[in-house]
Amino acid sequence: MNPNKVLWEKGDFTRIAESMRESGEALVGTLGIRKGLKILDLGCGDGTTAIPAAKLGADVLGVDIARNLVEAGNRRAQKLGLKNLRFQEGDAADLAGLPNNSFDMVVSIFGAMFAPKPFEVAKEIVRVTRPGGRIVMGNWIPNDPTFVAQILKISAAYAPPPAEGFISPMTWGIEANVIERFASAGVPRANVSFVRDTYMFNFPGMPSAFVDAFRRYYGPTIDAFEAAEKNDRADDLKSELDALFERQSTNLRKGITSIPATFMRVKVAVE
Ligand SMILES: C[S@@+](CC[C@H](N)C(=O)[O-])C[C@H]1O[C@@H](n2cnc3c(N)ncnc32)[C@H](O)[C@@H]1O
Repeated sequence: MNPNKVLWEKGDFTRIAESMRESGEALVGTLGIRKGLKILDLGCGDGTTAIPAAKLGADVLGVDIARNLVEAGNRRAQKLGLKNLRFQEGDAADLAGLPNNSFDMVVSIFGAMFAPKPFEVAKEIVRVTRPGGRIVMGNWIPNDPTFVAQILKISAAYAPPPAEGFISPMTWGIEANVIERFASAGVPRANVSFVRDTYMFNFPGMPSAFVDAFRRYYGPTIDAFEAAEKNDRADDLKSELDALFERQSTNLRKGITSIPATFMRVKVAVE
């Protein structure tokens, strides 16, 4: 079994994605999406960005490695009556079945960054984008002091050491790595640009309940708690995460825990 698939089919990422809908829609609103544009949303989850893109009239294909998330996405699309949106299973590092030059835009928000084999991922994304098309990635940034980067950092400290040859997904948040990966796929440096942006997580409940949701539903945190339990350190992990969520919470709206997270927005022009 593919461990990457196992990780994301664990728990139920839709429960975390529900806290990300507003920022997903806002981001999509900045991409100049219009009716008829062919868009691939890679590592799409249950459609946080694919659904708003389809609502703007684009023809959207969502591809994700997790079967449960693909099914959840298709259920959401059906419920909304979106005929121009389809979700299917696939691996960002091997988009077999998707022809060359077939999309005007490839979007991957905290998605393809989690696929192992980053050079293959860059090659596949570029291959399926048509000349003149665009690639937009949202990637978490290693050692960034804000929310998700810190969750992943804290979680990693409790997990067993990664296998030899493991390349951290967080390296997608380092400009030099991104440039190198797209260069190896034939994209010149001048066509890759970066800007820092913020995603807002909005959760209906207290910060500690939001930690509990990550513990039950978010693959990397589930793994961290499993590893911590084996070493009798689950309480330490819970306390560290409680403190992080509490500290970073802005609570602008009553009863809602709102936490901002900085990410790297990568734009690539394909020639
Ligand atoms: C943090 S979630 C983000 C989901 C979605 N883009 C969103 O913004 O809600 C990461 C997603 O990447 C998917 N993923 C991880 N590895 C993948 C791979 N190799 N190929 C395709 N999708 C992958 C996971 O299944 C999961 O849905």
